[in-house]
Amino acid sequence: MKILAIETSCDETAIALISVCDKPVSDKGVKNRSTSLINSKLQFKILNNFVASQIKIHRPFGGVVPTLAKREHLKNLPFLFKKLISKNSVKSNFLCSIDLIAVTTGPGLEPCLWTGIKFAEELYHKIKKNNPKSKIIGVNHLKGHLYSFLLSKEILKYKKLKDIFPAVALIVSGGHTILLLMKSLTEYKKLGETKDDAAGESFDKVARMLNLPYPGGPELEKVAAKGNEKAVNFPRPMINQKNYDFSFSGLKTAVFYHLRDNQKNITAGQEFNISKLDSAINKADIAASFQQAVIDVLTAKTIKAAKEFKVKTILVSGGVAANKKLRLTLKKEAQKNNCAFIAPPLKFNMDNAVMIALAAYIANFKKEKIKISAKGDFPL
Ligand code: KG4
Ligand code: ZN
Repeated sequence: MKILAIETSCDETAIALISVCDKPVSDKGVKNRSTSLINSKLQFKILNNFVASQIKIHRPFGGVVPTLAKREHLKNLPFLFKKLISKNSVKSNFLCSIDLIAVTTGPGLEPCLWTGIKFAEELYHKIKKNNPKSKIIGVNHLKGHLYSFLLSKEILKYKKLKDIFPAVALIVSGGHTILLLMKSLTEYKKLGETKDDAAGESFDKVARMLNLPYPGGPELEKVAAKGNEKAVNFPRPMINQKNYDFSFSGLKTAVFYHLRDNQKNITAGQEFNISKLDSAINKADIAASFQQAVIDVLTAKTIKAAKEFKVKTILVSGGVAANKKLRLTLKKEAQKNNCAFIAPPLKFNMDNAVMIALAAYIANFKKEKIKISAKGDFPL
């Protein structure tokens, strides 16, 4: 099965083409279609993967400007699609060979989602004329992140996907922080999520306070590498609570107060101006201390869940999972607790269309029906 996927939920325009082996290599005797995927390896090949980043466009504004993001998607989609066609031009009837068109329908910025949806629908109508069996499917962006662990080389070690489970999956992106318990590839339940800011959002906001350029997360990680994570003892919100929820808004405020209260050249009654940070402020120490607080909370809750539910594996995905210290800490803690650790390769933590294609394959396998319309808020 060939799947062409389109992702435009935020500020990356992405198109990917993958081919998936339709008949998963299953155990002898496993006849039931619903268990065959679980008792097998998912065999797929990435044929093309294009991502057009909009960082340069949004950087002067310090964050994503939805109208500009939509304008860029409108420009980038035909450009990336042309690239896809030219890469596949040697194959005659290339478009007719596509069985499934997958498009992200949410969560995300609705004008951006609609741009991807309209492009996907037009393409689908073109393809359908020559290949009446082709289909179009809407995909939840978060499921894309969730299933991006399938892109890890670690997966090759497993004979059957079911050997990975039960697993605890941590999704940490710019808009979401969710902890899931996965019984299998297709069965999972939410254990907890953030009550306010997402982990990535807190990285972005603290990065802005430190006058670091957009996108904040990776820039903050770079600065933090030169700092002392013990320099400031920032709070670890909700770390000792019994639930699996998170909260990062108070931590962000604690960083703000620390910056305000440690300005040397500010006199009583003078207003604190974050854009004129005292040069004596050690940005690296603050970045490292903040990053450590986030990592401590994410790790503590993930490991607590891993122990309580006696899982075999810890999975992590989403933009923040590109943070090397977070990956390393989770991996070490997973090993201490005799759990395997699987994270996608760094580039697949960020928004991409390959993960949307994989989630589409699984949704199609499960015969999930998702209405193809943009949903700003779209729970897992
Ligand atoms: O998954 P993603 O690409 O988009 C969403 O679905 O939100 O995640 C983007 C988020 C941003 O908040 C970005 O600052 C954060 O992931 N991020 C990082 C790192 N790389 C990206 N946060 C911390 N450390 C990083 N290295
Ligand atoms: Zn994302």
